[in-house]
Amino acid sequence: MNRARCDGAVVHAGELVVGLAPGSASIGKRIVLERYPDGAVAWLDGEVVDAGPTEEVLAEWEPDEIEDAAGGLVTAGLVDAHTHLVWGGDRAGEFAERLAGASYEDIARTGGGILSTVRATRAMDAEAMFDRACATAFRMLGCGTTTIEAKSGYDLSYEGELAVLAIGHRVSGATWLSVLGTALPAHVVPPEYEGRRAAYIDEVVIPVAIEAQDRGHAKFVDCFVERGAFTPDDARRIAAATSSARLGLRLHVDQLRDGGGAALAAELGALSADHLDFANEEGLAALADSGTVAVLTPGATLTLGGPTPNVAALRRHHVPTAIATDWNPGTSTVDSLVLCLALACRLYRMTPDEAFVGATESAARSLGLAGRIGCLRPGADADIVLWDVEDAQTLSYHFGPTWARAVYRRGHRVFGAPAPPDEAAWGGGT
Ligand code: NIG
Ligand code: FE
Repeated sequence: MNRARCDGAVVHAGELVVGLAPGSASIGKRIVLERYPDGAVAWLDGEVVDAGPTEEVLAEWEPDEIEDAAGGLVTAGLVDAHTHLVWGGDRAGEFAERLAGASYEDIARTGGGILSTVRATRAMDAEAMFDRACATAFRMLGCGTTTIEAKSGYDLSYEGELAVLAIGHRVSGATWLSVLGTALPAHVVPPEYEGRRAAYIDEVVIPVAIEAQDRGHAKFVDCFVERGAFTPDDARRIAAATSSARLGLRLHVDQLRDGGGAALAAELGALSADHLDFANEEGLAALADSGTVAVLTPGATLTLGGPTPNVAALRRHHVPTAIATDWNPGTSTVDSLVLCLALACRLYRMTPDEAFVGATESAARSLGLAGRIGCLRPGADADIVLWDVEDAQTLSYHFGPTWARAVYRRGHRVFGAPAPPDEAAWGGGT
């Protein structure tokens, strides 16, 4: 039988996870993953062409390059649907203050918190900020993340926010990590607009979002709906003014108190409602109707020490639920998404399969990329991770950053050195 040529394949996975089985729920008891012992995935022109039992894939395809997974787990690259990639300074001092008893909001009220990172970001040289963001991106890639969403929100001036989004876009080209920008000038009101929130929205928030989309540096717009930040009506205004610019809406909601944010996200047809630690059940139920993905951020929950989102309600109402790092200097200094799977299981009592789907297909859905990333079905990008564990459950069981053995982006092996060709000649390096 004639086999079709393809560019490459990873074969002999101890477990190959293709994605959710057809008809499977994405959260709750009825979740079923399509997984194969001794599995293989093959690709051509950067896209998956086949995934299944190794024997069947190799009967169909003749790959130019083959990598033997030797019993390791093979999955789609992880998708981090909520990060703040680019910022200056750090807030280690505040962390210590919080441990000594100060609250996150007390610190923010006295000019610390987000505004302290705004000062540090404005003071930092753009190239240094780019280098730092690249270093973060390489760490993420090494931990198996191949796509991230990246928000602005730590400069808060028209030019500065656009510059930050341009840096995120450059990181995408420089590191192999796919970076999708989100305009978040509506993070807090900067000091120069104090008392003039409406003017800030008109003069900075909306113009930045539209211009960044125009430059190809933002696909989404976000708003932090919270006391001391922005109101539901502000979010409505921003959504209305940016919807014609084809910007998907994401919202930071119900993170510090129940502000009816989940219902608001549903009302506005947002792609994602993020945080939700305090969200009420009615609001969560509404997310299912609007097709909004709940994006949970266990790193922030852990740092802030508040309640956990109502996962039982998310299950009851079949709300697609993603897990994200929320990488940022204030509430979530974790850049490894795979570590957040371990956190989601421990803090939220999600199952390992729920957490895995949260960091792959549900996250992809929240970015409007269902079927394109986060799974290994034919037609998806060949973003593939070969892990040093045997099955997907162990990703959550292991409580560490869990570096990948190899990472492929669109069929290119972009992370993980091959073994030395001749061990004797290398001599162990001594
Ligand atoms: O996602 N909630 C708002 N934004 C960040 C925290 C920002 C900060 O403290 O710097 C978050 O948790
Ligand atoms: Fe955030």
